[in-house]
Amino acid sequence: MFRGLLIDKQDGRQTAEVRMLDEASLPEGEVTVRVAWSTLNYKDALAITGRSPVVRKFPMVPGIDFAGAVESSTDPAYRPGDAVVLNGWGVGEGHWGGLAELARVPARFLIPLQAPFTPRQAMGIGTAGYTAALCVLALERHGITPDKGPVVVTGAAGGVGSVAVALLAKAGYEVAAVTGRVQEADFLTGLGARHIIDRAEISQPGRPLEKERWAGAIDVAGGQVLANLCAAMRYRGVVAACGLAAGMGFPATVAPFILRGVTLAGIDSVMAPTPDRLQAWQRLAADLDIAVLEKLMHEISLDDAIAIAPDLLAGQVRGRLVVRVGASQ
Ligand SMILES: NC(=O)c1ccc[n+]([C@@H]2O[C@H](COP(=O)([O-])OP(=O)(O)OC[C@H]3O[C@@H](n4cnc5c(N)ncnc54)[C@H](OP(=O)(O)O)[C@@H]3O)[C@@H](O)[C@H]2O)c1
Repeated sequence: MFRGLLIDKQDGRQTAEVRMLDEASLPEGEVTVRVAWSTLNYKDALAITGRSPVVRKFPMVPGIDFAGAVESSTDPAYRPGDAVVLNGWGVGEGHWGGLAELARVPARFLIPLQAPFTPRQAMGIGTAGYTAALCVLALERHGITPDKGPVVVTGAAGGVGSVAVALLAKAGYEVAAVTGRVQEADFLTGLGARHIIDRAEISQPGRPLEKERWAGAIDVAGGQVLANLCAAMRYRGVVAACGLAAGMGFPATVAPFILRGVTLAGIDSVMAPTPDRLQAWQRLAADLDIAVLEKLMHEISLDDAIAIAPDLLAGQVRGRLVVRVGASQ
């Protein structure tokens, strides 16, 4: 038996509770992992609260990320004791996830824990931080270097945004941080942001083309915010779009794309191929200051995860929540 957070749905009513689970109920997979740490992402909060249909079958252990040690493996790529990390692949949505002491997954879902991170720090990064790295890599792949001009990051005080600000600043970009919480300005300048922009300034419907401001953008918001960012890109600017915190819609015109050659680069972390994941994690290992990462992290328990999920959806959580599942480091 092992402890885990279980979501269930009966008669249309969803429940979430921490309880003892039977190892025999673990899904199929070559590798069984003793989970040390997990994290609470936006998507996990949607799953736990049932606010969006993230969970595709019930009962489900949520948790799209975990870090821990291999307990047993029928795949020669992993041996007992190996330190591993998992991000995405539909884990915590259609396959039992990381918010439990044991997880069983296909070997191809795992990557080795990247030095110098501890399992706890890897979860401080989690899908949010790894997605931030995918966004930065996408800007670079499309030719946005620091000399091209300022880069803007939305949802800057959240998980993806805060890691994106830190990575971009470390790489020498002039970073503007958009936040709905201007009281977090000191936190954001501490991460390396040079300008703080009130989210209200870019949330209202604007013109198809605005003054050219940004060489690059990393957007977690979607909706009107994304449309406004596209309209304010410099010639051949690049927007990496990864989120929908402001909405699924995209009330834009094609003007930025056909008149300014703007590129809209879509970012998906869930099904990203393993080489891309390794590249993102290696970038994080090279550029994310551990002291900065530690400042972003707040530790919670499995039981806390249920109570905090609504706050996370309400945008009241700063930085990254790490969930202590089993271990002490
Ligand atoms: N594509 C992928 O693979 C992928 C991976 C990870 C996350 N995501 C998505 O990225 C988004 C952010 O994830 P996260 O983990 O960073 O979540 P998070 O920690 O909850 O941060 C989201 C941030 O978005 C900002 N925000 C909230 N409501 C907003 C609104 N109406 N307009 C503009 N900004 C708003 C807030 O930042 P401020 O308070 O600073 O404004 C909030 O802290 C989510 O939509 C998530 O689903 C996608």
